[in-house]
Order: sequence, then structure tokens, then C-alpha cells
Amino acid sequence: MPKKAVTSISVQLDNRSYPIDVGADILKTLPTYLIEHKVGKKVFLITDENVAPLYGRNLESVLSKNNYSVTFIVLPQGESQKSFKNVSSLLDQILELKVERNDSVVALGGGVIGDLAGFVASLCLRGINLFQIPTSLLAQVDACIGGKTAVNHSTGKNLIGSFYQPKLTLIDLDCLDTLPKHELKCGMAEIVKYGIIKNVELFHFIESNIKDIAEFTPKKHSAIWRHLIESSANDKAEVVSNDEREAGLRETLNFGHTIGHAIESAYAYGTFSHGEAVALGMISACEISVHLNLMAQDISDRIETLLKELGFGTKIPTIPIEKLLIPMESDKKVKNGKIRFILASEIGKTETRNDVPRELVKSAIQSLFK
Ligand SMILES: NC(=O)c1ccc[n+]([C@@H]2O[C@H](COP(=O)([O-])OP(=O)(O)OC[C@H]3O[C@@H](n4cnc5c(N)ncnc54)[C@H](O)[C@@H]3O)[C@@H](O)[C@H]2O)c1
Ligand SMILES: [Zn+2]
Repeated sequence: MPKKAVTSISVQLDNRSYPIDVGADILKTLPTYLIEHKVGKKVFLITDENVAPLYGRNLESVLSKNNYSVTFIVLPQGESQKSFKNVSSLLDQILELKVERNDSVVALGGGVIGDLAGFVASLCLRGINLFQIPTSLLAQVDACIGGKTAVNHSTGKNLIGSFYQPKLTLIDLDCLDTLPKHELKCGMAEIVKYGIIKNVELFHFIESNIKDIAEFTPKKHSAIWRHLIESSANDKAEVVSNDEREAGLRETLNFGHTIGHAIESAYAYGTFSHGEAVALGMISACEISVHLNLMAQDISDRIETLLKELGFGTKIPTIPIEKLLIPMESDKKVKNGKIRFILASEIGKTETRNDVPRELVKSAIQSLFK
């Protein structure tokens, strides 16, 4: 069967619009885009130690064959790489090679590389070309779309960063074949989130294909995974196109993340992945929505069932409740001292509320306790 061609999704932003191109085996087409953008000859290809041998070396050689002068930079993997120290050392490496305004950074990897390399590209000479090539599911459907870049600070995650849009996000579906199952599951939590907050068709699609999706074998079920990724990337692109700087609509992407972030930080590092914590946060947000008579109980049950079928847990070990409430109250998304909550009224529809009683948040968290 011939492979479906490239699907192009557009992020629409005044004079900074760019495509998200999705296809199988399209990494090797990057030079075509560089030529189209008439970029300079120096390319800084930034990746991590896992992605380098899988895709980095090949991409480096494709670029070299097209007469680009490639500086191949490989960092260790992991969240700790999103540091200001790395920003500084990457800038040293790039500036020492006499980078020019029209040269490019290519960020090849998961959200860690996308956020870090994107931030570096935004700072270097006040901004050089950035090409995002996300290789994890989470990066393909979320992190590498929309231009938020950041590194972490000792006082919190993602506190130092910029809004900086790439020239292109290139999604090669074949990269998912090597992604560990738990990373696929993590990205799947965000895909369910798009279904709940704005895409009822996507939610139904996940329900109808749940058995195949829960196998987490993108190669075997490539048409299904392609649809999941295209729909989600399109949803994120639409949100960002309408609200780049998070004045309103973009905030809805935080559905499940208020309690999710609290869970991630309250337990020892690694107890819950981001996706697992967001799944739990979505269950709590549904419970709050039901208590406020926004959502019908059967909708909340459907969402919980779907998350369970994907292998997400619905319980957390009991700890002092303040450990979960305090990080939530000091979150940077708190406005006027009150926790804002993104709730859902039905599948595909959110409602932002400032007036969620603390006691209700507390009881929603308590009902997650084992
Ligand atoms: N900028 C945004 O809007 C935004 C949104 C959501 C998340 N984020 C950020 O994204 C980061 C998380 O992203 P992530 O989950 O991709 O983490 P990650 O970059 O650490 O990647 C997860 C793991 O998968 C490996 N990997 C990546 N692609 C692979 C492939 N194709 N085959 C095999 N292994 C592969 C990586 O080496 C890493 O070990 C966080 O730092 C988060 O803050 C940013
Ligand atoms: Zn998330």
C-alpha cells in the first residue's frame, strides 16, 4: 500500500505562521525545508544521547551531504538537562563558531531538547532559525508546538524561558517505533486531554479504538496513531493560533494539570510520570466538575474508564493533604491568591472557574487516596 503523503497543519500567527508537517519517514526531507527557507550554511543539531544513535547520526549525514556545515551536539538525556548552565554552554559553543543571524538550530528529541534548544535559539543573536523535530509522542503532540521554550530553576520548573516560534515542526511518525511504551503512555494522557477539552470526535475515536491503542504499538496500528497525532497537533495548533501568549484559551490546555503538577512534585521524583499525574489530575477535575453540577456523572465515569483502559492508575498513596495543596497554591498559574481551575462540562467543552472551594479540591484529592 503506498504511504500517505505529508499532512501539513498550520500554526497561524501574524507574520510568524509555520507548518507542522506530519508523515512517515520524513526526517530525511529536512534539507528541502532548509533550502526553502534559504537558511545559512551553519546548522547546530542538538539532541540527546538516546536519540543521537537512533536518528541524529543519519540526520547529520543527510545535512552534510546537502552541504550544510553541521555541529552535532549530544547532551545526556533527562529533565535535569533543562538548566541555565546548559544554555550558557550551548551559547558558548554556537557563538565560538561565529554563528550568523541566518544560521539554524535543529532541535531533535523529546520535550527536554525542544524546550532547551528552543530557548537557546531564541537568545542567540536575539533569535536564529529554529527547526523543531520532536521524536517523543509528548513532544509531537504538545511540547514542540506553540513556541513555549524554557529551562528549570531551583525554585521551580520552566521558570526561565521565552515565547519563540520555530520555522517548522517536522513530525516523523516512524520515530515512535523506538519510543519506550511508558513514554507513549505519557503522551497518550495529553491526547485524551485534547479530546476532553475540545475534540469530541477524537475522544470517540480513542474509545472506539481503545484495544489497539492500549497495545502501544504504533508500527502495527500506524493509521490509528497517525490520526491521534494529527488530530492532537491540529488541536494544539488551533489553540496557539488563537491565543499565543496564554491570555485565555491556551489556559484550557492546563486541564488536569493543576492537581497533576501537585502530584508530580509531592511524591518522590519518578513515583508518577507527567502523564500518570495528569491522568489523575483529569480524574479529580472531573470529580470537581460533577460536584459543581457542571458535568454529568456518566461522562466522568466514561473518562475514568478510558484512562483505566489505557493503563493509568486511579489511586495515589496517602500523604498529608497539605503536601498536595501547598504546591498547588504556590503554582505560577494562581491568580489573586486563588487557584483557578479548568473544569469540563461535557466532552469537548471546558469551563474556567475561580471560585472552586478549597474544601472541594481537598475532598477530590482525598478520594484519590488508596
Ligand atoms: N514547551 C511546551 O509547551 C511544553 C509542553 C509540554 C511539556 N514540555 C516539556 O517537555 C518535557 C517532557 O518531554 P518528553 O516527555 O518528550 O521528555 P524527554 O525529552 O525527556 O523524552 C523522554 C525520553 O524519551 C527518549 N526519546 C525521545 N524520543 C525517542 C525516540 N524516538 N526513541 C527512543 N527514545 C526517545 C528521550 O531520550 C528521553 O529519555 C518536559 O521538560 C516538559 O516541561 C514543554
Ligand atoms: Zn502536560
